[in-house]
Amino acid sequence: MRDQIVAGNWKMNKDLSQAENLVAEIQQQVNGQSVKADKVILAPPYVYLNYLTERLSGSNGLHVAAQNCHQELAGAYTGEISAAMLKSLAVEYVILGHSERREYFQESNELLARKVDTALDQGIIPIFCCGEPLSIRETDQQETFVNGQLTESLFHLPQESISQLIVAYEPIWAIGTGRTATAEQAQQMHASIRQHIAGKYGAQIANKIPILYGGSCKPSNASEIFAGADVDGGLIGGASLNADDFIAIANSL
Ligand code: 13P
Repeated sequence: MRDQIVAGNWKMNKDLSQAENLVAEIQQQVNGQSVKADKVILAPPYVYLNYLTERLSGSNGLHVAAQNCHQELAGAYTGEISAAMLKSLAVEYVILGHSERREYFQESNELLARKVDTALDQGIIPIFCCGEPLSIRETDQQETFVNGQLTESLFHLPQESISQLIVAYEPIWAIGTGRTATAEQAQQMHASIRQHIAGKYGAQIANKIPILYGGSCKPSNASEIFAGADVDGGLIGGASLNADDFIAIANSL
């Protein structure tokens, strides 16, 4: 009923020729077989977005995301990229609120609410990331913490906007650490996120929103994690940099 999605967040990796090779390999594998994911999304660094959108246009099931965008549409913001620019490249999705942006670039829930609005205004679908640090998990406050992120960044949206979103739950302690959430921890948090959205918008809307898991997801653990009823796929970091691993994950749904 909900789209099953696997998205690859390349973060700040790959030079141009490596990026070209990775896309070529992924495209070949996706075209050569029918992957189980309904949608496979690639989120390269900004500088390769145009190459990817042109190369993948008309490519079945393959989509392009940016890793961030600015909250304003244009102006004197040296070094920044706007949602309007992404739209002009036919980028369909944008990752917003990744924990690395929150931590290293001080992105607050409030700022993210503005970024979400700007992206949606441009017709770009946010992949909204949430997730708790280890200290919060250790005191069993993770559901309250994540609910707060959702409330502060998303709950100003009207129904028709929130129902377009993709949410990604990425526990910070599992990102790039090799330590993944157990399938049970993932399912429990995904169910809690859905319930929190349902509390505000109703079950019908909450049941439409794909919720992806991210954090040390690999071919060896993806099937188990994706088996959760509320886990609709994954947002993959390290393992998305290798075509075979990434496609194996896209086939684990
Ligand atoms: P890893 O898969 O490398 O842990 O990264 C997850 C992530 O941050 C995806 O956005």
